[in-house]
Amino acid sequence: MVSAGKSDLCMNLTLTIHSLGQSPTRESLRISPQKIEEELAETRSIKGGNRIKRARVMNNEKQDHEQSGLSRRGFLHGMGGAGALLGMTGMAAADDTPKDADGNVIPGFEKNQGDANAVKDWQPVSDRKVRVGIAGYGLCKFGAAFFYQNHPNVEVVAATDLDPRRCAALAKAVGAKKTYPSCEEMIKDKSIEAVFIATDAPSHARLAILALNHGKHVVSAVPAVFGFEAEGEAEELFNAVKKSGMKYMMNETSSFHAELYAKRMQYQAGALGKIIYSEGEYYHDNVGTLGSYNPRNGKIDGFGWRRALAPMWYPTHATAYYVSVTGGRLTDVSGLGTPSLYSEYKDGKNAHKNAFGTEVAMFKTSEGGMSRMAVSWDMKNAHGEQGRVYGQKPHDNGIKGDRPALPPSVEGGGHGGSHGQLTNNFIESILLDGKPIVDVSEALNMTLAGVIAHQSALKEGEWMKIPQYAL
Ligand SMILES: NC(=O)c1ccc[n+]([C@@H]2O[C@H](COP(=O)([O-])OP(=O)(O)OC[C@H]3O[C@@H](n4cnc5c(N)ncnc54)[C@H](O)[C@@H]3O)[C@@H](O)[C@H]2O)c1
Repeated sequence: MVSAGKSDLCMNLTLTIHSLGQSPTRESLRISPQKIEEELAETRSIKGGNRIKRARVMNNEKQDHEQSGLSRRGFLHGMGGAGALLGMTGMAAADDTPKDADGNVIPGFEKNQGDANAVKDWQPVSDRKVRVGIAGYGLCKFGAAFFYQNHPNVEVVAATDLDPRRCAALAKAVGAKKTYPSCEEMIKDKSIEAVFIATDAPSHARLAILALNHGKHVVSAVPAVFGFEAEGEAEELFNAVKKSGMKYMMNETSSFHAELYAKRMQYQAGALGKIIYSEGEYYHDNVGTLGSYNPRNGKIDGFGWRRALAPMWYPTHATAYYVSVTGGRLTDVSGLGTPSLYSEYKDGKNAHKNAFGTEVAMFKTSEGGMSRMAVSWDMKNAHGEQGRVYGQKPHDNGIKGDRPALPPSVEGGGHGGSHGQLTNNFIESILLDGKPIVDVSEALNMTLAGVIAHQSALKEGEWMKIPQYAL
């Protein structure tokens, strides 16, 4: 796996690599920008000479396997995120890039995160346009960040945000002619087939259920369900998907990280055998100072849902590193937490009744393996979403596992080139009546695993069962 340390963005990239290596031992390298530029130059010189031939299948997940070995080019494929970081070095962020209170670009939204390891030569699966409505243009401006407005099989017909100015800005950004004062109102529009819910985390499940009950396909930002209500919401959401027969997908960005996707391809081809041990992490120091939607005043401020957020209520970037690789389930959990360094968590005197700034959990998996997932808002020199997956059999370098081709007008975009992939996957799941990459059962397992881990941490690590759902 490849991870890039935040503090190293400009000068060096600290890489921890194993997905492409033959041995599972961990190796840390420091690579200078000049060295990476040399590697990129070499990649450019062989570009086009070694393309993968693919069957045109939903998600392109059944692919011809290219014999490649561990070439320098293969190495670069695996570091799509790092290459992208190189590309952003020295770049000024455009004005529409989401920023924190200090004016720094929110990690994951850096520009120029390409999809260097996506297959080329996208072929349309249909000439039909899915009519999409988009909700939410808050701190992360997520409604416009997934390229629905650029996809050839999409017509963005409507946009909404509760705040009239954010609503107008979203409509402008995605070229929607119609606007609605709320997602609840937009969902009543019979011309809309699918809704992208990019609102605040506590509202996802309620709005998704409403949209499904109105016969719309739904793609929701993470998490699928939230907080104290999560288990009840899970039951209702699952039933709404089942009853409506509509597509539901959770936009888990880790699922289309180049490294995770390559492991998914390995696993699906049977190359890894069972996964003995996996681990996933999401580290983001002081996430509580990022603004978020505050329902008491309608503003994006420091008193919204991110304030004193329980780390394991936001677990999916980590838990994807088992669930999205294998399609298996996290079944039992023992979690621990440590009190946060930051004052808003003190003694759990906050809306989430949460004192923890870091939570780590051990899981049993449905195939008899073990998993360790961690989420932290406290740790210094720790940043990003990453993971490692160890199977019974070694990584097969003959299986490249590149991400699917994208329409030429759609970028990979933010979070390691995952945004465009998620959008294309959701739209193809509708057009081809296929399974989206993260369906409701997987979304609920990735999310509830964390919710129950938090409950366990509040009970000093008591082993607890995670509710299971299967479509
Ligand atoms: N890597 C990732 O997958 C990733 C990264 C960042 C954010 N997210 C998720 O994306 C979502 C959006 O993030 P954000 O930081 O912009 O959130 P935010 O809280 O800053 O903004 C939410 C927006 O939704 C709007 N909204 C709330 N209820 C609404 C309704 N009923 N109808 C219409 N609009 C409504 C609010 O007015 C606000 O503008 C969050 O759920 C977050 O968890 C995911």
